[in-house]
Amino acid sequence: MIKFPKNFYWGSAISATQSEGASAKDNKTETTWDRWYKEDPYKFYDQIGPELTTNMYENYKEDVKWLKKTGHNSYRTSISWARLIPGGKGEVNQKAVDFYRDYFQRIKDEGVELFVNLFHFDMPIEMQEIGGWTSREVVNHFVEYADTAFKLFGDLVDRWFTFNEPIVHVECQYLNQYHYPAEVNPEKAIQSAFNTQLASSLAIQAFRKHELDSKVGIILNLTPAYSRSSNPNDIEAAKIADLIACKSFLDPSVLGEYPKELVDLLKDYDKLPDYTDEDLEVIKNNTVDFLGVNYYQPLRVKENPYEIKEDAIFLPENFYTPFEMPGRRMNIYRGWEIYPKALYDIAINIRDNYNNIEWLVTENGMGVENEERFRENGQINDHYRIDFFKEHLTELHKGVEEGSNCIGYQVWTFIDCWSWLNAYKNRYGLVELDLDTQERRIKKSGEWFKTLSENNGF
Ligand code: NOJ
Repeated sequence: MIKFPKNFYWGSAISATQSEGASAKDNKTETTWDRWYKEDPYKFYDQIGPELTTNMYENYKEDVKWLKKTGHNSYRTSISWARLIPGGKGEVNQKAVDFYRDYFQRIKDEGVELFVNLFHFDMPIEMQEIGGWTSREVVNHFVEYADTAFKLFGDLVDRWFTFNEPIVHVECQYLNQYHYPAEVNPEKAIQSAFNTQLASSLAIQAFRKHELDSKVGIILNLTPAYSRSSNPNDIEAAKIADLIACKSFLDPSVLGEYPKELVDLLKDYDKLPDYTDEDLEVIKNNTVDFLGVNYYQPLRVKENPYEIKEDAIFLPENFYTPFEMPGRRMNIYRGWEIYPKALYDIAINIRDNYNNIEWLVTENGMGVENEERFRENGQINDHYRIDFFKEHLTELHKGVEEGSNCIGYQVWTFIDCWSWLNAYKNRYGLVELDLDTQERRIKKSGEWFKTLSENNGF
């Protein structure tokens, strides 16, 4: 039997926009997602937008009861900035305070530790209109929002996170066009990455002033970069991929400094963002207490065989090319490779290169389309999800046995939720959400997860 250390965290994560719904209710203002859906509904799978999602804003009192039934001893959600502070700055919305306090209190009453994240891809539209993460003013407003959240909910939250997967909004807003405003502008991407890191560090600085009993961290999606071969060009490509995809936030967040190779690379191409020495001091002095790691897929790369024109647009793909390894195992619904061993590699990397900082898996899971076909006697038998969890846990356990300071495993997610442009295409939940009736039903994986948590292993 695989046993995890005592007091291991078991649970799941979700986010405000993906679960609350009520996107225009009780004074909440528009986010970039509300606006984008209004402008371009066809971009969203089946044209389902963020207005309703899992409707937890209305249903949270019932929904929190599923946490225990699915073995949670911990649970993460995020606060909607646009709900707490409509427009992103100024007055606090009392209705939001009442909602979050009651929601959070009920989670605690279930005996579940509460993890709260401040930014999960949901920029208030007014903040985006003044430049989003490319703007210093937005950084300042974010820090005010963070400070307000620490003050209002500090007595209820056990662990805070400043950001979820910060590299994702950077790439999706300004390189890949999966988030509003869907531009391709590397200069903005770089500035937005720097400002996001600064915002995280400044929020940590604000957190310390409250002298709360809780801890503060950041959630990074680590996609270890594996090179196609041992050829030096492939290895160099993997090194650069790792710098951009992982170390860009991992190093400043945990070690307080950007990796020299990344700074040199940007310098060589005259692409350094605007910053001051004082900013670097803030980053140095405000590192995280612990780390959340979302892991879904590895990043396999090979060298880019083509010459880059001197005036070419500055994109990560100039330095490496994704490598489609023959025979790789795929989650075909999401288009992601399944490679559990990477979780072991992450554990060892954190142990050896990041001071063996306390960390936990804050997301891991499998999005699957049309789960209806797996219904047996009324219940979805998602055996493939159970296998997915088991395989990842086996690798994680190896890392823990070898001394990595991992304290928990949370899945994405406990109830089927809305996945941005993919809307409800793929389902991830331990609990099924019937979109027509809003009914909730436990899946096989939900029952399995409860036993896993009770036994602290499997
Ligand atoms: C990462 C993100 O944090 C979450 O918002 C998303 O829905 C899941 N992964 C699944 O793709």
